[in-house]
Amino acid sequence: MQACVITLGCQMNEYDTHAIQSQLASIGYSFVDDIHDADLVLVNTCAVRGKPVEKARSILGALRKEKKRRTVTIGLMGCLAQLPEGQAMGAKFGVDIMLGPGALTDLIPALRQGKFQNFAFKDELRDYAPPPPNGALSAHVAITRGCNHKCTYCIVPTTRGPEVSRPAADILREVEALRDAGVVEVSLLGQNVNSYGLEPGLGPHRKPLPGFPSFAELLRMVGQVGLPRVRFITSHPINFTDDIIAAIAETPAVCQYIHLPVQAGANRTLRRMAREYTREYYLDRVAAIRSQLPDATLSTDIICGFPGETEEDFEETLTLYDAVQFDMAFMFIYSEREGTPAAAHFDDIPHPVKVARLMRLIERQKHWSWLNYRRWVGRMVEVLVKGPAHEGDLMQGHTRGNHTVVLPRAVAPKPGLYAVRIAHATPHMLYAEGVAIPEGRPAATAA
Ligand code: 5AD
Ligand code: SF4
Repeated sequence: MQACVITLGCQMNEYDTHAIQSQLASIGYSFVDDIHDADLVLVNTCAVRGKPVEKARSILGALRKEKKRRTVTIGLMGCLAQLPEGQAMGAKFGVDIMLGPGALTDLIPALRQGKFQNFAFKDELRDYAPPPPNGALSAHVAITRGCNHKCTYCIVPTTRGPEVSRPAADILREVEALRDAGVVEVSLLGQNVNSYGLEPGLGPHRKPLPGFPSFAELLRMVGQVGLPRVRFITSHPINFTDDIIAAIAETPAVCQYIHLPVQAGANRTLRRMAREYTREYYLDRVAAIRSQLPDATLSTDIICGFPGETEEDFEETLTLYDAVQFDMAFMFIYSEREGTPAAAHFDDIPHPVKVARLMRLIERQKHWSWLNYRRWVGRMVEVLVKGPAHEGDLMQGHTRGNHTVVLPRAVAPKPGLYAVRIAHATPHMLYAEGVAIPEGRPAATAA
């Protein structure tokens, strides 16, 4: 029996896909990339914006056609399976099973029952056996699931439920197993990793849960397991304490890459997004990071065109960007999600306005990214090489700070850790010595 699992969306979905695959492997499935070769196709979906939802729709459309030609079982998994929108889609396209992220452990029973099932949301997200190592050099480990925040644009609290922290002993066992299997880099995953081990609630003053270490303590513990690289993603500014910054600074294995979504620069927008912090609070956290971790890479998420965002509000996003000078940013156009408070209470703004704002933001991002990337020229960096680059006889990997690096195959013939000197930079890439920047790259033209 052959299965194809298609993954859309975030790293948590990649982790869930890995868990889905290990369940399937336990009942005899092997895996293929092409849906035409599969007896079972599972689509692990994302619902955070309209685009991934449309992507899921087109995949399900293709699968419906496939199903008309031959026998194949189709499953709708992931965040979309948790929502009325996704359930309607699953029914329309005739999927056989539907399982939300809280019901992954029902996969095998659902397959056995065969007929259309909706095992979507159970009140509480149950844990599942960690996916076994799969030979990769990098691996994910979930440390929390779900999200307690109530950002008004976001569907994730609905699809993934409230925040639950996994016991530290389980996390450590999983990390040790990965280390023993030869993994070099582990990423601790959670919607908000830095509220790991805190009591339910919101805001900056949540108490620790009895029996749980804080996130700072967990970082120190995982840092001692003996892996060269420990990463964590994503952080929420409200609980990004000085203690966490100190743990990063003092734990050599922990990579100095901090993804700290700000979402918007104007206090008015932040308040209407229910982000729980002000611009000033965010800038204070950035100042603390910069003073303790001067080489850390700082990246962010920004939404352009939140409902009611005025020109002045948006300009505050630009001035915040200039103040922080992020190394990298993931920039999105606001996408109305049915069932969120923003969709219920605020009017969407015109699409062309959102696009124009995104374009202006991308200009800033390129400017600061290029300046930041250039700081690495002439320096030695550690690169975790993953495999061949897209072009030429080159290899590709990433630094501890999460910059993509291209290097000569002669230097790094096979995947692993290497030390190289950086010779050139573009706004999105570092080039090791011995690699020429391909013509037409923006490095030569950026201001
Ligand atoms: N529209 C646009 N972007 C969104 N994000 C979450 N919800 C929405 C939405 N409705 C973005 C946020 C978040 C990232 C994972 O996705 O920036 O940090
Ligand atoms: Fe969504 Fe906000 Fe939770 Fe992030 S913190 S998952 S943006 S509700």
